[in-house]
Amino acid sequence: MKIWRIGIGIMALTWVVLGGTAWAGDQISIKFSHVVAKDTPKGKAADKFAELAASYTKDRVKVEVYPNSQLFKDKEELEAVQMGTVQMLAPSLAKFGPLGVKEFEVFDLPFLFDNYEQLHKITYGPIGQALLAKLSSKGILGLTYWDNGFKQMSANKPLKNVEDFKGLKLRIQSSKVLDAQMRALGGNPQVMAFSEVYQALQTGVVDGTENPASNFYTQKMHEVQKHMTLSDHGYLGYAVIVNKAFWEGLPPEVRTQLDRALADATVYANQIAKQENDGAIEAVRQSGKTQVVLLTNEQRAAWKKALVKVHQEMANRIGAELIQSIHMATGFDPSKP
Ligand code: LMR
Repeated sequence: MKIWRIGIGIMALTWVVLGGTAWAGDQISIKFSHVVAKDTPKGKAADKFAELAASYTKDRVKVEVYPNSQLFKDKEELEAVQMGTVQMLAPSLAKFGPLGVKEFEVFDLPFLFDNYEQLHKITYGPIGQALLAKLSSKGILGLTYWDNGFKQMSANKPLKNVEDFKGLKLRIQSSKVLDAQMRALGGNPQVMAFSEVYQALQTGVVDGTENPASNFYTQKMHEVQKHMTLSDHGYLGYAVIVNKAFWEGLPPEVRTQLDRALADATVYANQIAKQENDGAIEAVRQSGKTQVVLLTNEQRAAWKKALVKVHQEMANRIGAELIQSIHMATGFDPSKP
């Protein structure tokens, strides 16, 4: 009787330690939830990780990928990974504020990066690694970063000059930096889950939004937005995160192979991100439904002038030192168009 009770106790403890995952015999299953379409940089990278994880562990690990908010929406997926209902996610860096790690919002600062090279200096350097380490107090391990790309702005009117934003209701992710960005342009930001954006644009709950073209096109936003400005005014990318207790409870030989699978999936993710976004811009053009708007150098310089003040404004929230250290590492120049 006593042995039986101890057995149940050990099983329950194992379940908790492993983050509530299902272990059937030797098989380990990992639920990877995300909110975008399969045919996007993140969707493809998650599928690649699943494929490599199965291959490197000789099918001992099965990664089940749930795309398109099928399992959880933005806010819920972060709660779910903390509780261990899912084991793995790759939320956008703009979504960690509600979890209490506001510093990730630094990546949302407008015009912070000119290109992927500058971004990678941060994500794969000491600053990016220190940010990931902050997650462990939340029951989460930050494993790596995956690229998406630079955001474009859309609405039912062409957005060329800063004045064009006046009074527009603009959907944003749950980031105070993005809130400040839209206000600096004269718009009214509205936080909304990604899964709700298409309908909100269709019904006029919001007038416009921002996203890399791969997200815009695969969510069919080109059906409900008449204009998309190629502004590249900010960056959107991801942190790949896992439930800490689950990951640390994995057999070491399994974890080694999963680390290898993730490293290879990360190379793949970052290789395809730019071409996926370039392809999506072309697909939007070809659709004939959304007009692609280009900015002159003067117009883009005016956007930047209106927006760089957000860096200063957000110093209290994100940390002046963090912002400064990124400026130093990338050679940020507020006056460069
Ligand atoms: C958004 O909510 O716009 C993005 O974070 C979606 C994503 O995960 O790329």
